Amino acid sequence: MNQPEPFYITTPIYYVNAKPHLGHAYTTIAADVATRFHKMAGAPSFFLTGTDEHGDKIAEAAETNGCSPKEYADEISALFKNLWPKLAIENDHFIRTTDESHKKVVADILQKIYDNGDIYHAEYEGLYCVGCERFYLERELVDGKCPDHKKEPKRIKESNYFFRMSKYQQWLIDHIEANPDFIRPKQYRNEVLSFLKEPLEDLCISRPKSRLTWGITLPFDEAYVTYVWFDALLNYVSALGYPESDAFNTFWPKAQHIVAKDILKTHAIYWPTMLKAAGIPIYNTLNVHGFWNMGEAKMSKSLGNVASPEGLSQKYGVDAYRFFLMRDMSFGHDSNFSEEAIVKRINYDLANDLGNLFSRVVAMSFKYFDGTVPKPDSSLMEELSLAGEAEKALESVRMEMPLFAFDRALKAIWAFVSRMNKYVDEMAPWDLAKDEAQKPRLETVMYNLLEGLRMVAGLIHPVMPETSAKMLSHLGAGDTPMLLTSFETWGELPPGGSITKTKALFPRIDMKAFEETKKEKSTPVKKELATPIKEEISFDDFMNVDLRVGTVLDAEAVPKANKLLKLSVDLGEGVPRTIVAGIAKSYTPEEVKGTQVVVVANLAPAKIMGVESQGMLLAATKRKHLSLATFQLEGLKPGTPVK
Ligand code: MSP
Repeated sequence: MNQPEPFYITTPIYYVNAKPHLGHAYTTIAADVATRFHKMAGAPSFFLTGTDEHGDKIAEAAETNGCSPKEYADEISALFKNLWPKLAIENDHFIRTTDESHKKVVADILQKIYDNGDIYHAEYEGLYCVGCERFYLERELVDGKCPDHKKEPKRIKESNYFFRMSKYQQWLIDHIEANPDFIRPKQYRNEVLSFLKEPLEDLCISRPKSRLTWGITLPFDEAYVTYVWFDALLNYVSALGYPESDAFNTFWPKAQHIVAKDILKTHAIYWPTMLKAAGIPIYNTLNVHGFWNMGEAKMSKSLGNVASPEGLSQKYGVDAYRFFLMRDMSFGHDSNFSEEAIVKRINYDLANDLGNLFSRVVAMSFKYFDGTVPKPDSSLMEELSLAGEAEKALESVRMEMPLFAFDRALKAIWAFVSRMNKYVDEMAPWDLAKDEAQKPRLETVMYNLLEGLRMVAGLIHPVMPETSAKMLSHLGAGDTPMLLTSFETWGELPPGGSITKTKALFPRIDMKAFEETKKEKSTPVKKELATPIKEEISFDDFMNVDLRVGTVLDAEAVPKANKLLKLSVDLGEGVPRTIVAGIAKSYTPEEVKGTQVVVVANLAPAKIMGVESQGMLLAATKRKHLSLATFQLEGLKPGTPVK
């Protein structure tokens, strides 16, 4: 047999502004399942995952948590890195974009593209969404807001470096059309082609250091850092040792990426055009999956509806958790997550169908053959065979796994499991055992069941490695090489081998008890806030703070202080007060003029950047953006007390 082609698979590198959740676990487990399958097929493989650590988002999260971006990135990156082995994920490498080797590759590739003339400097004015860290075109907005963050982007004008992405538009269309498997499943390929019907803009690939310092400095201009996506995408080649290494030469030509649909555009448009401009061969396939939703909303940190992978896998078992994720989502489509759905999968597919079959067959082997694998009767083999059904399951696995259609592969394996359950009922070994003349038949039936279970154990290995090993070891086949070839010829379980007794592979979960614990859980639990509530004060203490309605009459920037605005605020005192407020990054002077705000009116004056500030405004921060406390009614009388 020919040596299968090398297999290189990558997950997105995850942002370190949030802890890992079920969505991240899904993608990384999918990559692990695919890798284990290709290893079984005998392919040399390389599985890469890691963390994306530069950019606004991380700098902001670090600031909120009161530490440096690197300290913050170290902490969260370790959460990802340490989680994967707990989910039986065996990645070959874990890359961090703060690795020196990665930074060097980013700088080298930028320089190469710059030298080729595909990066230029220009002034740009555009609509920028901080959440997405990118500029938007008017037509991409929904009701004037970012479709992901539902916030109006800010108009920003600055001079920056641009990558001539537009130059590669026609080339990209041709490439996608010539390679039907370049983007899979088809609906995402169509989505990209339809997006490419509109002219592509060039890509802004820098951020001035005056705005953001947490990034990789441009090799040709010290005043800028690299746009985080330009930096992050290059991890897929830097991790292999680009430009020259055995790993790069072996694996890069076969690269496959897995991503969810949220980052389709960056991977299907930015990334191939970047590769083309850098003179690097284009990756093979982009595999795109849908979202895990909870209720109606996408599971994400900002929605606070995340399911902890560690908690769930500890509660239900790693293999059951992996099985649920791979079986319940049809790759490419969205899926709904609920704990009930996990419990159902465990009870029906795992405990009932597979677990019961296994326990019954092992128990019967002890009852009728003292725990020894019986020798089948060759004259009965054809009549009683299960080989055809096993082969069908194997064929489906071979066909579906390379397409990432894990659910379909598992369905095919479970069709075989169901067939075996039926076979037990049809053959009724307990009846055969009553009649000595039927012994050859009983031996053949039991052999087929044991051999069928050996096949199942092999086929489930990519998804449930622990269960697979356990089953094989109980069947006395623990030393079977984990290769598909070990599971393609019927009859390789040696007769005479010893079987060992087993406890249930998957204990059933008591549905009633589960409902009860769920009820208990749904009582809201008080949470510790990120900024803890201060010590209690008396009513009088509070009344000592004199809060008033103030009307902002005028506002201007404070020279050399990019965060400050100098405001003139009317408190109804005849002479307006001067108040210096740190709101310049969120409000232009024009935007605050005329606003009615809450003023702390009896605060001791303070000098800020040489200007005396005679009061303070109230505001709250969301991801570095300030929102002033204002009033629902317009036209309040300046100086009105606020209590
Ligand atoms: N850092 C970028 C990726 C750069 S790759 C060069 C990023 N990071 S992320 O932390 O936001 O991860 C996004 C990815 O996490 C998705 O593409 C998907 O793989 C996974 N998922 C996050 N939430 C998910 C769901 N709710 N459902 C399914 N997958 C999800 O984007």
